[in-house]
Amino acid sequence: MTENNFRKPVRIAVFPVAGLGTRFLPATKAIPKELLPIVDRPLIQYAVDEAREAGIEEFVFVTGRGKTAIVEHFDTAFELEATMSGRGKSLEPLESTRMNPGNLVTVRQQVPLGLGHAVWCARAVTGNEPFAIFLPDELMYGSPGCMAQMIEAYNEVGGNLVSVLEVPENEVSSYGVIKPGAVNGNLTQVKGLVEKPKVEDAPSNKIVSGRYILQPEIMDLLASQGKGAGGEIQLTDSMAKLIDTQPFHAVTFEGQRFDCGSKLGFVEATLAIALDRPDMGADVRAMAQRLLG
Ligand code: UTP
Repeated sequence: MTENNFRKPVRIAVFPVAGLGTRFLPATKAIPKELLPIVDRPLIQYAVDEAREAGIEEFVFVTGRGKTAIVEHFDTAFELEATMSGRGKSLEPLESTRMNPGNLVTVRQQVPLGLGHAVWCARAVTGNEPFAIFLPDELMYGSPGCMAQMIEAYNEVGGNLVSVLEVPENEVSSYGVIKPGAVNGNLTQVKGLVEKPKVEDAPSNKIVSGRYILQPEIMDLLASQGKGAGGEIQLTDSMAKLIDTQPFHAVTFEGQRFDCGSKLGFVEATLAIALDRPDMGADVRAMAQRLLG
């Protein structure tokens, strides 16, 4: 196969949202982590908006028990809308929650066996097409958005792409890490991938940060993927096998990334985005100065 086989347009995005969110208990006991709001929008909304900006047309949510409220968020709320209209209130805050009919598909991951397994659960919908993956608890903040930057790179090199960022060396053991090859601007060739390596074994300090574009062959690899780091079926382990047969690159995102699956990252995102909002930034700054003073 030539490289041209790996350049089909990316129309579908998979959002694995079936995880347990144990790092955020008790908040996530009854509320999915992906619905926790940063200011006034839930995490999943930021990810869906980023996908739309990148031209994604079809949205696949991999859900599990207790996660149906995520799907409700993108449904029409007749009573709410009728009541608001009746009271003369603007429906503008609901605009971004609207999906075109038929463009939202949900599949179930019955048991949260790991990210790789969650992605594999979407195979009937993704079929023979390349697809994007968004981990909504990683909030990518910037313009153009992270996936838009990745699609631009995909149009150049095709194949498989992950977004990466550099972290201090002593932090690599919590993440998937790339073995980098040639670097060209924000694009790095990926020569290897390892999930949660020991600091001394890590091939670099460039970690995979929650956005992917993968070719459909990943699904065959996931089908037989055994458990890896943490006893989970890891996406990284199957991606590592793709490197031998298909183009594989990393895009360094020009923007900010917040790890909202952790409490500190969540607070940081809330403060950074609130400070950046034209409608409230000045008030938040004054409040923060008062609190710090
Ligand atoms: P995390 O590694 O953040 O796991 O998953 P988690 O279970 O949600 O959270 P903690 O670590 O217990 O606090 C990254 C993304 O992959 C999804 C999660 O929903 C999240 O969006 N995921 C993870 C699944 O869909 N299924 C899984 O089996 C694991």
